[in-house]
Formats: sequence, structure tokens, C-alpha cells
Amino acid sequence: MTEFLYLNAGRGAGAFYQDRLPIHHTQVNQLPEGLDAVIVAADLQGRERFQEANGGPLRLLGEVVPQRLIDEIFPELGLTDPFRVAAFLAGDFYTVPALDKRGGTGDVSSVWKAFGENFAWVAGVAGNHDTFGENRDASPRFPGHLHYLDGDTIELCGIRLGGISGIIGNSSRHQRRSEDDYLFTLELLLEENCDVLLMHDGPEGLEPSQRGSLGIRTLLEESQDALVIRGHSHWDDPFIQFNNGLQVLNVDARIVVLTE
Ligand SMILES: [Fe+2]
Repeated sequence: MTEFLYLNAGRGAGAFYQDRLPIHHTQVNQLPEGLDAVIVAADLQGRERFQEANGGPLRLLGEVVPQRLIDEIFPELGLTDPFRVAAFLAGDFYTVPALDKRGGTGDVSSVWKAFGENFAWVAGVAGNHDTFGENRDASPRFPGHLHYLDGDTIELCGIRLGGISGIIGNSSRHQRRSEDDYLFTLELLLEENCDVLLMHDGPEGLEPSQRGSLGIRTLLEESQDALVIRGHSHWDDPFIQFNNGLQVLNVDARIVVLTE
């Protein structure tokens, strides 16, 4: 495992601190057709360090991560063509520019675009702190190879992907929907036999410390085998498998590079 250093926001002016973003590498049985790797990430809530910004404004961590992966991680893994690599983004990529407040909400279009400029395609969901553009409630307007999913499915490179943005909560708040609405949307996606499900919220895990939704877990345990990618709640052990074979990868505050 490698780590990238970045700045994490603190509570109040000057309270920011240096933190570490773990980069993991895992091998999977099968990748989508035509790809050498998939990058999976969520909750990159930080900014680059001053020494990397060359005097400019500090960019969001997710804006600088794609080039750093290509420069520092891909050579170790023998990955030579970034356009044979795709990215799954599971939400929450914003941090306020002054790094003086935790959990700020803002525009993450630049992060999606950075992944889109460096890799073949991107599929993902919004976190509860993500907006796209100036209008808070607008859906993103992205080029055709950036696939924003919210209750939708899409077929890419021979796999069926589904996604639900936001979290379970008070539906009058940003990127939240009631538990009933969330679970209904998930049921509809599960009927489409997705190979990969992207969500920001997600199931509780197997350990009490692996926080999440019992309702989501119950639905997933009743469905068929799939890979669920989630963020939002930090799990020390990011990977679990339920008895029905369904696997959950929680990439909150980490990056996982999947290769075959
Ligand atoms: Fe979140």
C-alpha cells in the first residue's frame, strides 16, 4: 500500500492538518472488457498541499489524484495506457478552499472532469456534500464518457452498472431521500441484475464498527451476487462478502486500484 499526503480541513482558521490517503491494489477475477484497471474512490475530502500547488489555489484532492496515480502508481503495476483504465466514483469530493470547516458542500465537477480527462470513462454517484455547477439542485452536464447515476443503470464494456446518489435522510436536505424512497429505488436497480452497484450510502457490514443501513443490507442479502461500491462511513476493513456471495467494497477516504 502507498499513501498520498494531502491537507484535511480542521474546525476553524488554520486548523487544517496533513493527512494520508491510502492507495490499495487488489486483483479481481474479471474486469470490464477492454480495460487493464479500474480506479475506485470515495470521500476524498481534502486539498493538495502548498508545496504541490506552486503558489496557486489549492486544488481538490480528487483533481490531483488522477495524474499522481498515473505518475507514481501505474508504473509499479505495469499499467502503461491510462485510456484502458476507468474510474468508479462513489461521492463526496468537496472540501472548502480555506480548509477551515469540515463537511462543506460544493461543486465537484472539476474532480469528475479530471478523472474524465485522464481515463477512458467514469461512472459514479453524488455524495451528500456534492453539487455540480452553480445551481445546487442541478444534475451534472458532463461529456458523454462521464456517467452520473441516480436510480439509473448503464451497460459499459460488457458490464451492467447501477447507481444511487445521496444518502438516506430528511428529503428536504441536499442529496437525501427517505428510507422508503431509497430502498424502493434500490429494489428497482436490483431487478436489473447489475454486476456493479455504486452508492454513496450503503449497507452496514459484518462488524458493529462497519456502520451503514440495515435496510440496504437486508435488500442486498436477498438479491443475487454483485459488487457493491460505497463510501460515506469509514470502515477500517473495507471489504466484506455476505452469505449470498454479494461483495461490498467501502472506499471511504481511500483509493483502490483493481487489476486482473
Ligand atoms: Fe457522505
